[in-house]
Formats: sequence, structure tokens, C-alpha cells
Amino acid sequence: MAARSVTVFVCVSCRDDGDADARPGALLLDALRARLDERNIDMAVEPVECLAVCKRPATVAFAGAGKWTYVIGDLDRGAHIDELIDSAQSFAATDNGIVAWKDRPECFKKGVVSRTPPLP
Ligand code: FES
Repeated sequence: MAARSVTVFVCVSCRDDGDADARPGALLLDALRARLDERNIDMAVEPVECLAVCKRPATVAFAGAGKWTYVIGDLDRGAHIDELIDSAQSFAATDNGIVAWKDRPECFKKGVVSRTPPLP
């Protein structure tokens, strides 16, 4: 299934409070890519250094041309990978990036940090 109308940016820089060497976003990135392969989903995923939500790892952003951009935090690679993929697919399916509340998995509802409008 193609889902090219979204790019998922994953912060790979956040540190884990309990283990300074652990990088929750880097682990989430690996888990996300593996799960996309398993589900045979073609989705753009890009690592980034910081999304300025450093206290709420793991953090991602959904972006697409002409769409609102959402930043989502508090993602757990064990609990949220499928919800994250479903969220990104819901975003991809919109024209403007705004996903109806009923179409948001729990991690999307609870983790939203911000949304930013597209350039005019
Ligand atoms: S280091 Fe991950 S959001 Fe800042």
C-alpha cells in the first residue's frame, strides 16, 4: 500500500532518563521500519536530530506538502508501532493533514504536542 503523502520524521537524538546511552527514537525508527516491511507498507520515514520535544521521547512529526504538520511525543516502540503506522496512514489519507478525532489511534490523541499549518 502506498502512503507517500506523508513523511514520518523520527527524532533519533533523545536520551532515555534511565540510561544515557539508550536512544528511544533510534530504537523506534528501527522498529518502525521493520514493521512497515512486515506489513508491506511503502511509507517515507526519515531520521532527524531533534524535534524540540526532548522531554517526551520518542517523538515524531507527520508532514506532507500542503498539509498541517503534527508533532507527536510519548511514543513507545513496544506499544505504539502499529498505532503510529495507522496514524500516519490516516494523515496520508487527508487532503490537508487534519485527521478527525475518531480516526486517531490513542497514541495520536494523547501524544500530540503541536500542529503547524502549511505554507500559504
Ligand atoms: S532530542 Fe529528540 S526531540 Fe530533542
